[in-house]
Amino acid sequence: MKPNIYVARPVPSEVAQYLETHCEVRYWTGEESITKDQLVHEIGDAEGLLLSGTPVTAEVIEAAPNLRAISNIAVGYNNLRLDPIIARGILAMHTPYVLDETVADLAFALILAAGRRVTELHEWVREGKWEKGQEEELYGLDIHHTTLGIIGMGRIGEAIARRARLGFEMNVQYYNRNRKPDIEEKLGVTYAELDELLATSDYVLLMLPLTPETRGLIGAREFDLMKRTAVFVNVARGPIVDESALYDALVQRKIYAAGLDVYAQEPIDPAHPLLTLTNVVTLPHIGSATAATRLEMASLAARNLVHALQGKPDIALIPELRNV
Ligand code: DGY
Repeated sequence: MKPNIYVARPVPSEVAQYLETHCEVRYWTGEESITKDQLVHEIGDAEGLLLSGTPVTAEVIEAAPNLRAISNIAVGYNNLRLDPIIARGILAMHTPYVLDETVADLAFALILAAGRRVTELHEWVREGKWEKGQEEELYGLDIHHTTLGIIGMGRIGEAIARRARLGFEMNVQYYNRNRKPDIEEKLGVTYAELDELLATSDYVLLMLPLTPETRGLIGAREFDLMKRTAVFVNVARGPIVDESALYDALVQRKIYAAGLDVYAQEPIDPAHPLLTLTNVVTLPHIGSATAATRLEMASLAARNLVHALQGKPDIALIPELRNV
């Protein structure tokens, strides 16, 4: 008998076909992303759940007595509350590897756009502000041969470091829970303690997972440590940063600019003060959003779910479940 699964977000048709070959599938059909309360209502007798972003809380787990496997279409899994999942022995999976290079590309887009004021000057041209004789008002910052500080040296951090070293000949330093001597040797990057990295980098890039330890890691103190010419880029998760401290740092010109793909609340409120600043480049959490990569992510997540329900071992379990 095929297992029942609930698919809580749209998936490409070839992925839906694969799922329907192996499972009895119910889909969320709402126009907006499913909320936690709607998931509690919908999940019923599902043995498997495919989703991304929506919180899977103790309430969701309680509402799903048959649930055996959860597959997140994302590498980050801060939407999953691990205690109730582990307590019930449910398998939880994510999508590592397939998005590394795509997210690294987007991180670089933000570095370039914030440093060279690309979106601000794009608006400038459109608004007819381009006149002959303008000089210093158009200046931005160099990227090549400057120092990039990467906070979080996982696979994506490494892919960013490779672009920075080989493409832009940047000096790259990183801070990470564990040192990575192999990456230091391979790419010529150096390790720095967090405060030192903050004080000496021209570009400070956040690439850490959101955990209880990293929540609020970058606040007023950390922005105070940065250079007045520093550009801050976040492609990780919004709640790692105190957004009001970031706003103050930008308004008071304690730092030069920011490039943001992620926010404390998503979607960010269009009235949010950060969106009023010309020295902030903002994107709607699209780090992995290319058609090819999103298809790979959905395919991997679907395979993870089917294989977990079939008891096969080749699944991308989240790290906390690997040695349980
Ligand atoms: C991820 O996979 O974690 C990306 O941020 C998309 O959510």
